[in-house]
Amino acid sequence: MALSFHITLVCSIFFFFMIYPSIAKTSSNNKPKALVLPVTKDSSTKQYLTQLSQRTPLVPIKLTVDLGAPFLWANCDVGYVSSTYKPARCGSAQCSLADTNDCRDCFEFPPGPGCFNNTCRLYPENTINGQTLITGVVSHDTLSLQSTNGFNPSKFVTVPKSIFVCSESRLGTLDDLASGVTGMAGLGRTKISLPSQFASAFRFPKKFAICLSSSTTSNGVMFFGDGPYVLLPGLDVSKNLIFTPLIRNPVSTASSPQKEEPSSEYFIRVKSVKINGKTVPLNKTLLTIDSAGFGGTKISTVKPYTELEASIYNKFISVFEKQVGNHVPKVAPVAPFGLCYKSKSFDSTRVGAAVPPIDLVLQKKSVFWRIFGANSMVQVSNEVVCVGFVKAREDFPPKTPIIIGAHQLEDNLLQFDLDHSRLGFSSTLLSRQTTCANFNFTSNA
Ligand SMILES: *[C@@H]1O[C@H](CO)[C@@H](O)[C@H](O)[C@H]1NC(C)=O
Ligand SMILES: *[C@@H]1O[C@H](CO)[C@@H](O)[C@H](O)[C@H]1NC(C)=O
Ligand SMILES: *[C@@H]1O[C@H](CO)[C@@H](O)[C@H](O)[C@H]1NC(C)=O
Repeated sequence: MALSFHITLVCSIFFFFMIYPSIAKTSSNNKPKALVLPVTKDSSTKQYLTQLSQRTPLVPIKLTVDLGAPFLWANCDVGYVSSTYKPARCGSAQCSLADTNDCRDCFEFPPGPGCFNNTCRLYPENTINGQTLITGVVSHDTLSLQSTNGFNPSKFVTVPKSIFVCSESRLGTLDDLASGVTGMAGLGRTKISLPSQFASAFRFPKKFAICLSSSTTSNGVMFFGDGPYVLLPGLDVSKNLIFTPLIRNPVSTASSPQKEEPSSEYFIRVKSVKINGKTVPLNKTLLTIDSAGFGGTKISTVKPYTELEASIYNKFISVFEKQVGNHVPKVAPVAPFGLCYKSKSFDSTRVGAAVPPIDLVLQKKSVFWRIFGANSMVQVSNEVVCVGFVKAREDFPPKTPIIIGAHQLEDNLLQFDLDHSRLGFSSTLLSRQTTCANFNFTSNA
């Protein structure tokens, strides 16, 4: 009894001191429950971009969204002016959060953002063209974005000391990124990705959602924090999600990993693929992640179309073709696709061309992600539609045989719940008469 009283007292004192500073810190900030960012589909590169504000005074920065990337990186050696910029000194809390003790000095440039002595480094990757960019200085600065009640954007909030990696603009770090973009926004499974940092700054659930618009003229949306996520005409798409576990790949999937670490990307367990209910006879070994990190299924916003390992692709296309039937004539394929038809061969429905539905069967038979025409087919010209899946390189097979790409994600809401390591997905919102372009971006602040 005396002992338990003692422990209770010690615990209360401990918790008082643990919690008190956070109350003091956030009360002035009027703690938001969720944050919101627009996601634009760039018309020339088809990359998905977002924009937030950084530095003091604040400057808008445009970034390519990379769902699986470990952190935000941005060029900051040219024209970077900020009174709140700080590099992370070796051994600091930021370096340990970033999980790096790769400490370096800088001789190449005058001191300034991107070049300081005794700073820890990470390796930003341009995942659009696969280039790893020498090194970048782990840094922090103020970020600013809008809070939301799930219906509209609301007041701007600032995230002080937000960690990012400063890259250099020489060496073509921005090659192949959309015009105006100065880096990439990583939403991956690390402590320094944007979702993790926002959740810990405002103590909301470690959840975020992404909804990519198929249109290059109306914005899609990203939410950080829990729902509601409301799309016009008033549908809360955080409800009625289907859930599947997020799988950890124990081995980095970066193009040139610098150390042994788990992948920051989001993997799910696809157990089989069905087209019109017919199982695609694929090599099951490829569907599980082995101890070297090969195998499995991941989700990507930087691959425009779902990419399948060659043997999977061939079987997939042959089953699709059979399910469409011989009575529908094929036309010459248009690269990068391998199977195309005349558009007028298919009726058009609310969920796209009336083609055989594709099911990614997940943890059990009754749980599947159904892909309809709007997400399976790509209109390549007025007359021609193609099956919007591509074959991975055969000479250099990918580590991950199924990479679900952006075209298949459009107008689907995906919620990544990192607290419970699960993915919630809506399947196509077109069947519910809304789209990812239907968030009301008029501020109610
Ligand atoms: C880093 O330290 C070296 C040696 O002391 C010095 O020459 C160099 O200018 C310093 N670089 C920066 C960016 O401060
Ligand atoms: C299935 O894939 C694994 C991994 O690539 C390979 O070792 C095996 O030979 C394949 N099995 C068949 C039947 O093709
Ligand atoms: C969008 O939100 C604004 C601000 O709350 C509101 O005035 C407007 O009616 C909304 N638009 C629609 C189409 O509901």
